[in-house]
Amino acid sequence: MLDPTSSDDVFVVHGGAPLRGTVRLSGAKNSALKLMAAAILCDGELRLSEIPAIADVPVMVDVLRGLGLEVDLDLDAGTCVIDASEEPDWHAPADAVSRIRASLSVLGPLVGRTRRARLALPGGDKIGARAIDMHLRGLEAMGATVWQRDDEVEVHADELHGALLTLDFPSVGATENLLLAAVLADGETVIENAAREPEIQDLCRMLVAMGAVMDGIGSPTLSIEGVDRLAPTEWVTCPDRIEAGTYAMAAALTGGDVVIERVRSTDLTLPLIKLRAAGVVVEEGADSLRVKGGDLDAVDVVTLPYPGFPTDLQPQLMVLLSQAEGTSRCTENVFESRFSFVDELRRMGADIEIDGHHALIRGPSQLHGATLTGLDVRAGAAGTLAGLVATGTTIIRDVHHVDRGYAAWVPRLQELGADVQRVPASELGPVPGPGDA
Ligand code: UD1
Repeated sequence: MLDPTSSDDVFVVHGGAPLRGTVRLSGAKNSALKLMAAAILCDGELRLSEIPAIADVPVMVDVLRGLGLEVDLDLDAGTCVIDASEEPDWHAPADAVSRIRASLSVLGPLVGRTRRARLALPGGDKIGARAIDMHLRGLEAMGATVWQRDDEVEVHADELHGALLTLDFPSVGATENLLLAAVLADGETVIENAAREPEIQDLCRMLVAMGAVMDGIGSPTLSIEGVDRLAPTEWVTCPDRIEAGTYAMAAALTGGDVVIERVRSTDLTLPLIKLRAAGVVVEEGADSLRVKGGDLDAVDVVTLPYPGFPTDLQPQLMVLLSQAEGTSRCTENVFESRFSFVDELRRMGADIEIDGHHALIRGPSQLHGATLTGLDVRAGAAGTLAGLVATGTTIIRDVHHVDRGYAAWVPRLQELGADVQRVPASELGPVPGPGDA
């Protein structure tokens, strides 16, 4: 079930309770949205399951319907059936596209299927400049002409041919867009320095099930031999490793004992190494994890593209490190503005020093409740975690960000024993102001 998504709601968190129980993960946000975009390439019906009940999914449905695709979404069942038998429109609807970053991933499939695309420049988290130069340079190398205006991009490719594409950086979005364009291009495309996140592997494997020809899935060099058409298929979205990591840290932080179901621990190798190094007990089952918290020790962490430590777990990790004994160092290498959450954490009493993209965290600090605002999807979750170990009341505003990435965040935390409520801001009494205890 989707949480109610009024952007006026707030989370009210009272800390102290150790989390206990079982939580089952949703399908991965960053896979589901791309699998949905890939439906544009499918000459027929794509049937997806384990689609997460998050707010970005209906927005992506609006984007696809705006392109003329038939979409049947059942968020309660976690299914989405998308029919692209008719050739899609090439002009994506600006209002929906500008609401989520992932809508950029319709660019590659549109160019692949219709040989042209016009797209408003997308929205999403404000965690850095989030340029799209690699996406556009790659399409140009494949024979496309690109026009970039202030608020939109237009691409025409009368001939779309394979090419050798060497990325400056293993960008998730650029790798996905280019491989999605390449599957219906003429000839062979090789993407060097490709991103290899588990969600990209999920996308590649689904495309192969649809008839795409690819080599090097999960490696930094991806070769794609273009085919004429992609056939309908059924696909189960991979589990959300970021959601897994978030609940694991929540369990560890609160000194709890939580079983996380439908996990692929191989997607979480480095986060689990770091949790164990911090003194957290992690038991791995066939497709589950049991995480037990206790005394936490400082660890050093560097965010990098997969298989490096995910930037999407960095804010949650900062909360954990604020409770660890000793000095931890955290380096953020993926998004330049991703330390903005640190100011909020400092207001709650964390001892964190920032120098460029390096952070020094001295712990443990007793956190105290505060009102947190303007957070992105991961920082909103991290703020909730901070509230779970703080004294007093923590209020999280702008919770629509959390709705974009976490299915049933508040009900699931409540089931684990957390004292968290979601209430309309208008029902809130006097709350702690910035820095108030
Ligand atoms: C995706 C994920 C996001 C995750 C991120 C990194 C989705 C919807 N979002 O975002 O949750 O945090 O991967 O794992 O899947 N860059 C350029 N030029 C480009 C493309 C990227 O300079 O053409 C830069 C970006 O500004 C950023 C870095 O590369 O600093 C990483 O971006 P990228 O890997 O593309 O992330 P997204 O696909 O935006």
